This record gives sequence, C-alpha cells and structure tokens, in this order.
Amino acid sequence: MSEQVSLGAIQETLLIPLYGRAQDARRGKSVLSDRKAIELTETIDYDFSKFRGPSLGGSVLRASIFDEYVREFLREHPAGTVVDLGCGLSTRFDRLDNGLVHWIDLDVEDTMALRRKYFEDSERYTMITGSIFDTDWFSAVTERPGPVFLLSEAVLLYFPAERVRATLSRIAKQFPSTPLAFDTGGAFMMRSQDRNPVFKAVTARMEWICDDPKTLEQCGLRLRESRTFAQPQPSVVRTWPLQYRLAAKLLGRTAPVTTYKLNLFTTSPG
Ligand SMILES: C[S@@+](CC[C@H](N)C(=O)[O-])C[C@H]1O[C@@H](n2cnc3c(N)ncnc32)[C@H](O)[C@@H]1O
Repeated sequence: MSEQVSLGAIQETLLIPLYGRAQDARRGKSVLSDRKAIELTETIDYDFSKFRGPSLGGSVLRASIFDEYVREFLREHPAGTVVDLGCGLSTRFDRLDNGLVHWIDLDVEDTMALRRKYFEDSERYTMITGSIFDTDWFSAVTERPGPVFLLSEAVLLYFPAERVRATLSRIAKQFPSTPLAFDTGGAFMMRSQDRNPVFKAVTARMEWICDDPKTLEQCGLRLRESRTFAQPQPSVVRTWPLQYRLAAKLLGRTAPVTTYKLNLFTTSPG
C-alpha cells in the first residue's frame, strides 16, 4: 500500500538523496547498491520523478565519501558509537554494520515518524526523535560504549550561520576529541540553488554560507580532511562508475564542485 508523506520543508529534502540512492541501485554498476531505497521510493506516495539533474548522483557520491569517513573510524574502533544527526531515510547503518558498532540515528519528529514505519530499533541500533540544535540527545550518546563518531550530512546547510556555529561550539564542548563529519557550501553553491533542478522541485533553500571550513576551527574544531567530489578517498573512487569519475575529474576545478566540501573534523581536547 502506498504511504502518504507529510513533511516540513527542510524534511522533504530527505526524499532527494533517497531517490538518488534508488536510481543508483537500479544501475548495472551501482555505488551503494541500496535496494531498500528502491523499496521505499516504490512505497512512498510522492512524485519522485520531479527530481532531476546532477544533484541526484551527487548525493550518492557524497554518501559514499561520508561512508568511508565512518569506515575509517570503525576500523580503529569497531565497537564504537556512530551518531547520524539528521539521518532522514538513510540506510548507512545497514551499509556499515560490522556486527559490533552501536548506532544512533536522530531526526526531527515528522521525519522520525516516517522513518519508524520502515526501520526498527535493535540491540545496537537506536532511533531518537530530536533536533541537532538541542542538547537532549547528548545523554543518549554519552550512555553508549566506546569512542563516538558524529556525522551530519546535508543538514546544517539549511540553517542560519549563527545557529550552526553556536551548535558546533556546544557539540565540541560536550564531546571533546571526537570526530565530526559534515558538509559545507560556499557562496557560489548557495547562490546557484534556484538554477538547480532538484531545488526547483522543493521549497526549502540552503542558508549557511561557509566558503572556508577551516574558519570553523573557531568553534572548537580541528579540520582533518576536506574533500570535494573531485577528491574522494582512493578506496571510494574505485567504486564509482566511469562516468562519475570522469565528471568529477572534468568538473573538479569548477565552482559547483570546488565550493561544496565534505569535511572531517575532530573536536578540541577540551
Ligand atoms: C537533505 S536531508 C538529508 C538526510 C540524510 N542525512 C541523507 O543524507 O540522506 C535533510 C535532513 O535534515 C533533517 N532535519 C531538519 N531539521 C533538523 C534538525 N533540527 N535536527 C536534525 N535534523 C534535521 C530533515 O528531517 C532531513 O532528514
């Protein structure tokens, strides 16, 4: 039976990467092979066909780069805790579960209500309703065993700079010496949204302009890696179909690629 969705404006944007992953999984050579995304797009009553353009493939490549940040953490801390802040309908836990990791997926109420229709909590997997901008989720994380990896993909971009920076400072204080991955977009990217076919199909717009992720070190973070689609990890690029590799190379010096950064930070020792 098909499922009606009623999501807030920013929450609706989760359907873009979901559809990107479903389209990717339908290809002969898929990056993420996310069969669950196909199932979800076939169950959710929504006109996904209105989403077009390079951002669909881009969301898949972004997920693969963030996956590798998490994998690197899990290689060192297989029984650590991963927290995905603003998870949407991501299937990252299913992709990266090593049988030991503890995982928390957090998102706001309407998104989490939708997510709970398709995903279930288990011994090592917990869904939490909450906002990245609140502190309620902190205790759920500190109760979990082992070192923590924090991740927030395509979420902070939608909010005002002051709110993002205050939240990053709070997180850095609460979780010292902790890896934290999130994306930043420069002025070019923000100003070209109205020309982007996926944004023509939704009302939400990204707000936070961050031309240089290094400036976020003022929030108690240390920048470890900052990648664009043209600079994926070598182990990741091997999983990309040839046309993506060529496009990333060809467009690697153009503003749409150079102004969108997928960053890995570590919070200050405290
Ligand atoms: C573009 S989607 C990204 C979803 C997911 N990270 C992915 O890459 O598939 C933006 C997400 O931000 C979530 N979101 C909106 N406001 C939020 C908040 N205050 N705290 C946490 N997540 C939020 C939305 O519900 C949505 O899931």
